Amino acid sequence: MSDDAAPPRLPSHAPKLGDRSLFPKLRARVYANHAGVAPASVAVTTAVRQLCDDYEERGVGAVGSWVRQRLRLRGKLGTLVGARAADIALVPNTTRGVVDIALCLPWRTGERVVTFAGEFPANVTPWQRAASLFGLELVMLPADEHRVAPEAALERLLGELRRGVRLVAVSAVEFQTGLRMPLGELAACCHAHGAELFVDAVQACGIVPLDVGAEGIDYLACGAHKWLMGLEGAGFLYARPECAAALRPVVAGWLSHEDALGFLFRGPGLLRYDRPLRQSIDFVESGNTNGVGFAALEASLDLLLELGVPAIHAHVSTYLDALEAGLVERGFRSLRSAEPAGRSGALGVTPPAGTSVVDLHAALVERGIACAVPDGVLRFSPHWPNALDEVPVVLAAVDAALRR
Ligand SMILES: Cc1ncc(COP(=O)(O)O)c(C=O)c1O
Repeated sequence: MSDDAAPPRLPSHAPKLGDRSLFPKLRARVYANHAGVAPASVAVTTAVRQLCDDYEERGVGAVGSWVRQRLRLRGKLGTLVGARAADIALVPNTTRGVVDIALCLPWRTGERVVTFAGEFPANVTPWQRAASLFGLELVMLPADEHRVAPEAALERLLGELRRGVRLVAVSAVEFQTGLRMPLGELAACCHAHGAELFVDAVQACGIVPLDVGAEGIDYLACGAHKWLMGLEGAGFLYARPECAAALRPVVAGWLSHEDALGFLFRGPGLLRYDRPLRQSIDFVESGNTNGVGFAALEASLDLLLELGVPAIHAHVSTYLDALEAGLVERGFRSLRSAEPAGRSGALGVTPPAGTSVVDLHAALVERGIACAVPDGVLRFSPHWPNALDEVPVVLAAVDAALRR
């Protein structure tokens, strides 16, 4: 890596709420599946092409520029979640962030971990593995109770915390219902009882405002391909600095050491195996990485930061208010939280009695409405490019599908 390698300048684009002109090739008439996989914008494909062109032209000469691009990206991810760049690590996906923490926490045999039934398995499997490896006890509480009976849900959690819990692992937003969890309250309860809070934020970052410092989150993992509108195979992990310093670096690799690269560039005598491992969370960046995914992520994040997450959230909430009302009128049952604070960018509904949700979904997709059916819930998840005048189009497609 040469010292003169400047970070590449990504071209700027002008995003507008409700305007999908940065997605000229997108086929769906209405794309409402950002909680699944987001489509790539022109900003993303341009950044990817720029990186590929650079490697095509310069080979190893391009490496330093894109290392610096990833340092810049860390700063922007920090801006997104209210953290310092130094407390952010780039990881391949949400799961990898969960696994890194599950493996590296200095567990003591018999410690208890709280997870939630109804969560996406990405935030359960690694805790199950940790339980089996380190002799932990896994406690599973009902996630949906936080939607239907929030006070009882908090009381149930407090009951477990009083019995002694090392860590609570929860999603910021539940993947089926779109329920936004009360992270600040959960963190306060955890900390009052000596527990830590781990958050899977892949259904939240980019669509609901989230601040790790203000909410008291200890660890947070997030992938790029949903609400951040990047590509699959990129993500980030935040850890509070004191938490990161206490981790056991069992997932460390050659790039986890201080001055890990010097021996490749600065002459003989620097090849050593005893350099200290970094104590910041970026020790999990253990080997070479997915530069393409992180170039894409910065490009999509630039659009989100320009629009501002609160403005995006307000736009999508207006869209979902209208869609929810139209669906309820047609006999659907909404799973959206009754409390505005519990709402995110996803609307989950169940269809009128006697309607197969799988057939209904297929009929909607056939009519150009991209949506999803996670575990039998019909889920709509529009984002900033979705125009409000799409709502009647979705409802007309629903009417046609129901008639069929
Ligand atoms: C809450 C939640 N966590 C994690 C994932 C996926 O994790 P990963 O980024 O590791 O594929 C999903 C959906 O794919 C999800 O909805």
